[in-house]
Amino acid sequence: MKLLVTGGAGFIGSNFIRYWLKKYPNDKIVNLDKLTYAGHLSSTKDFSDNPKCTFIKGDICSSELVHEIMKAIDIVVHFAAESHVDRSIVGPATFVKTNILGTQVLLDAAVKNKVKRFHHVSTDEVFGSLPLNSKAKFSEKTIYDPKSPYSASKAASDHLVRAYHNTYGLDITITNTSNNYGPYQDPEKFLPRMITNLIDDKEIPIYGDGKYVRDWIYVEDHCRAIDIVLQKAKVGETYLVGGLTKDVNNLQIAKKLLKIFRYDESYLKFVKDRPGHDRRYAVNWSKIKLELGWKPKYDFDTWLERTVEWYKYNEWWWRPIKKEAEKLYAKTGQK
Ligand SMILES: NC(=O)c1ccc[n+]([C@@H]2O[C@H](COP(=O)([O-])OP(=O)(O)OC[C@H]3O[C@@H](n4cnc5c(N)ncnc54)[C@H](O)[C@@H]3O)[C@@H](O)[C@H]2O)c1
Repeated sequence: MKLLVTGGAGFIGSNFIRYWLKKYPNDKIVNLDKLTYAGHLSSTKDFSDNPKCTFIKGDICSSELVHEIMKAIDIVVHFAAESHVDRSIVGPATFVKTNILGTQVLLDAAVKNKVKRFHHVSTDEVFGSLPLNSKAKFSEKTIYDPKSPYSASKAASDHLVRAYHNTYGLDITITNTSNNYGPYQDPEKFLPRMITNLIDDKEIPIYGDGKYVRDWIYVEDHCRAIDIVLQKAKVGETYLVGGLTKDVNNLQIAKKLLKIFRYDESYLKFVKDRPGHDRRYAVNWSKIKLELGWKPKYDFDTWLERTVEWYKYNEWWWRPIKKEAEKLYAKTGQK
């Protein structure tokens, strides 16, 4: 089997390639990544010499390149995207280009080259926001209501993927997943930013009142969910994928981290809120559990601690990236 993984130098994509090469050592992988600010060859260092994995630096919006690569591909797993909500507020145009147009270019090439499966990796943010203190959860039946340029561009890409299934008969599947955490996540994202600040004995910024609830999934659980969907799902289906957290808010997570580092609450720094900040996401993952037998394995408290350990032992990876990450927050005033 030959896979095209897009965005394989990013956080989840690199973890997915690592997972796949270990589980299916005879498969071949082409990793197509533009190496934007979010793509790091250092994230692929441990498998860059593997003869089964080829890296191509390129843009998913380049139709000619994508068509050429797709000629020899059986399965596409599409991660490549602009993925940071804060950046989408500062500059939405790139999000529209990569997330919508780039997905369409890939879909076109997949149809023309008759790929066996196009798996699209998406987010629970396409469903908008749930009220705090409610028990409601997103499900596959929830109506799309994206609120940020990032989630709107991902919502559009989901619709395109389904449209290519209905219109051209492309065999697709989609997963909409909650917030991932784990190794190799860029230090400009919420959890790694807090962890790396604490390693450096610096305060940790909390947006607004900190009462923003997210569902958190350990990245390997997400990779396993995509694997099971590729092996067992009915073509054309969408699955919501979530973790084992129960309505934990950002402030509570910050306090968990302070406890791990044995620091007191003077390290908390409340900063200007993100405009249009969604209050709460919660994911009902019973469809993937009932139909395909997947459920998350990794509990948040244990794997948060292991993630902290990973950042402590892998400064070589995040230190060169951290400086760049902080420039963004200087621009948004969320410093
Ligand atoms: N991180 C999360 O918590 C989360 C949750 C749900 C869904 N997702 C989705 O999963 C996917 C991966 O997320 P991530 O957190 O790993 O993102 P990331 O920002 O860490 O990585 C994105 C990768 O895509 C590459 N890329 C960007 N534009 C490209 C282009 N035009 N052509 C080729 N490559 C390009 C980047 O260089 C980078 O390596 C995204 O589609 C995202 O929407 C992420």
